[in-house]
Amino acid sequence: MLTSTRELLETARRHVYAIGAFNIYNLEGVQAVVKAAEACQSPAMLQLHPSSLKYGGSPLVALCLEAARTATVPISVHLDHSTSAEAIRFALEAGMNSIMADGSHLPYAENQVFTQAMTQLAHAYGAVVEAEIGRISGTEDGLSVAEKEAKMTDPMQAGEFVKITQVDALAVTIGNVHGEYKSEPRLDFDRLVRIRQRVGEDVLLVLHGASGLPAQMISRSIELGVCKFNVNTEVRQAYMQTLNLEKCIAEDADLVPCMEAVVDAMQQIVMQKMELFGSAHKAHLHQSPYARMLTAAQERQRQMTIHRG
Ligand code: 13P
Repeated sequence: MLTSTRELLETARRHVYAIGAFNIYNLEGVQAVVKAAEACQSPAMLQLHPSSLKYGGSPLVALCLEAARTATVPISVHLDHSTSAEAIRFALEAGMNSIMADGSHLPYAENQVFTQAMTQLAHAYGAVVEAEIGRISGTEDGLSVAEKEAKMTDPMQAGEFVKITQVDALAVTIGNVHGEYKSEPRLDFDRLVRIRQRVGEDVLLVLHGASGLPAQMISRSIELGVCKFNVNTEVRQAYMQTLNLEKCIAEDADLVPCMEAVVDAMQQIVMQKMELFGSAHKAHLHQSPYARMLTAAQERQRQMTIHRG
C-alpha cells in the first residue's frame, strides 16, 4: 500500500530500525523491491534519482506509485538528490511522497535559501523533505583526512540549518560515501551524536551510501537515530552481473527469463538489506488506522494544492 514517507520513517524511528530506500530505474527494479518487501514483510521506499526521473518521466513515476498501491506492504515513493525546483515540483504534482532537496553543492548560504524554498513548496503538498549539508560524494575516498573532515556535516551548522529551513530529514556525511568503499569504511559516530544533539529529536536522520557498510556500523547508526538508509550500488551491481548479455545472445534467449533472473538477483540483495536494517517483519507496525489517516491526509493536501494552482 502506498504510504506516506513520514509515517514510514517516524514509525521506524520509534521502534528503532530503519527503512531501506532503494534506487530504481525500471520495472525490474520496482519488482525486485516490492517482491523483497512482501517476502520479508518489510516497509520500503522506492527511490528515483533525477537521472532516472529524466529517463523514465511520468510513466516511471506512475509505475512506482501503482506498484506501491498494489503492494501488500507499506511502500513510499521518493525523489533522491534533486537540485532542480522544476523536477521537485513535477515529483510533488505526480504524487511522490517525499523529495530530497539537494543544495549540498552550493555554498552554505545558498544551500539554505534553496532548501528553505523547496521545503515550503513540498510542505504545501504534504510531502516530507530531506536535505543535506556537508557533502557526500563517490570520490571522497581519494581525499586526504583533512579534506574529508571539511566535507563532513558540521553539527553546529546542522542545528542552524534545520531550524531555518524547517526540513523534516537530514542526510548526514560522517565518512559515508556513494559507491564502493575503496578502503575499510570508517564512520564518525561521535559526530553523529553531536549532530543529533544539535538538530533535536524531531529531525529524521538519513545515511546515504549504505552499500558495503558492515552490520555493526548499520546497527550503531540506527541506535544513534538513523531511520533511512539509501542503497543503490549493490543492487545495481546485482543487475549488471546477472544480465549476462553474451549468454542471452548466444542462446537467443527470451527476454522474460533474463529479466526474471535480474529481478531475482536484485531481490536477494534488497532482502539482505531489509534484515540488516531491522525492517523485516515490521510491516504490521505501519498498518494502523493512524498510518492510513496520515497517508490519506497527504493525498488530500496534494489535491488541494494542485487545485489551487
Ligand atoms: P550507494 O550507491 O553507495 O548504495 O548509495 C546510494 C545513495 O546514497 C543514493 O542516494
